[in-house]
Amino acid sequence: MDIRDLDALELRARQIMSPGSAASVDAGADDGISMRENIAAWRGLRLRPHVLVDVREIDISTTLLGERVEMPILVAPMGRHKNFHEEGEAATARGAAAANCIFTLPTYSTTSFADIRKQRKAAPQWFHLYMPADKTISEHLIDGAAEHGFKAVVFTVDQPVGGYNPESARNPAPIRDDVRLMNWPGQPVATGAYHASRQGFINFPTTWADLDWLVKRSPLPVIVKGTLRGDEARRCIEAGAKAVIVSNHGGRHLDTTVTTAEVLPEVVAAVAGRGDVYVDSGIRRGSDILKAFALGAKAVLIGRPVVWGLAVDGADGVRDVLLSLTSDLKRVMMLSGVPKLSEARPDLLAPPRMPYI
Ligand SMILES: Cc1cc2nc3c(=O)[nH]c(=O)nc-3n(C[C@H](O)[C@H](O)[C@H](O)COP(=O)(O)O)c2cc1C
Repeated sequence: MDIRDLDALELRARQIMSPGSAASVDAGADDGISMRENIAAWRGLRLRPHVLVDVREIDISTTLLGERVEMPILVAPMGRHKNFHEEGEAATARGAAAANCIFTLPTYSTTSFADIRKQRKAAPQWFHLYMPADKTISEHLIDGAAEHGFKAVVFTVDQPVGGYNPESARNPAPIRDDVRLMNWPGQPVATGAYHASRQGFINFPTTWADLDWLVKRSPLPVIVKGTLRGDEARRCIEAGAKAVIVSNHGGRHLDTTVTTAEVLPEVVAAVAGRGDVYVDSGIRRGSDILKAFALGAKAVLIGRPVVWGLAVDGADGVRDVLLSLTSDLKRVMMLSGVPKLSEARPDLLAPPRMPYI
């Protein structure tokens, strides 16, 4: 299979996964509008390429939390990988490490910290936190992550309750006794984000006071994931977060939000270099990554395509998806006359014309 053909990869992954697992990955909330518009918004931005530039050397390195990394592409936090592949997050972490990408381990990991740590090699790993009301659970999770060498906590703030996903309601995700939340106290059986018990139930009642608590308590730097507003991104940084991730969760919970491509410039302007800005949701091509950098992002996170690679070919599939995006990015940078990703600027883009669906 040509791994660049993400439509074919998604189709193949759907054939392999159970209908419940496939629905939990692919579907968007409600009418799926944000999920589709995320992709369309990146594609609606038009490049203004430079010519006559020496593009024999291409540099895609970036700086994350003050440290240089070779790869600008990260694996987004996604729960319960054992629903997609028997080896679970260990395979995803190993595939990401083989592509030299940062892997973000979800709170709802079905693989233990210790097993993930073994897969790391040189690539750093981050830990994603959903903060439940009981702070001792968060303490258990962030201290465990720090002990196992994770380098940052990605605090997701855009999902106080589970969204409604009609496809998942028709095809509930499988619940298996052997698929458990391995880092959660007591290792409970994993249920899906769209499980009936989560509808309208406040799972994560976090507020600004909890961000203050986390920044003080966390042994690791805090990155806030899920803001779509410049004013609140700035407030996150003022509260002590080192970075924000502009994200609408891939359109999985609240439908008809603004897209991340639209709102990224506002957030970059508001943060004004006092913290890093990363972005996800709908990034599928090297050109999308170049556009994100032109608008001021320092990294992109990839969600669903990584799961498709995992479902189809385990760690190798994850690696191949990430490497294919990397080579696509390099090709687009050559064609755009941008040899250094860190030097992509807004003037690389024409004003947006959204081919909205
Ligand atoms: C199966 C799946 C599970 C996810 N679980 C989480 C999660 O536990 N925490 C979180 O912050 N985001 C979660 N996300 C959202 C991703 O981190 C990311 O924001 C989104 O997938 C990016 O959009 P994309 O899929 O269009 O690339 C999940 C996404 C998927 C596809």
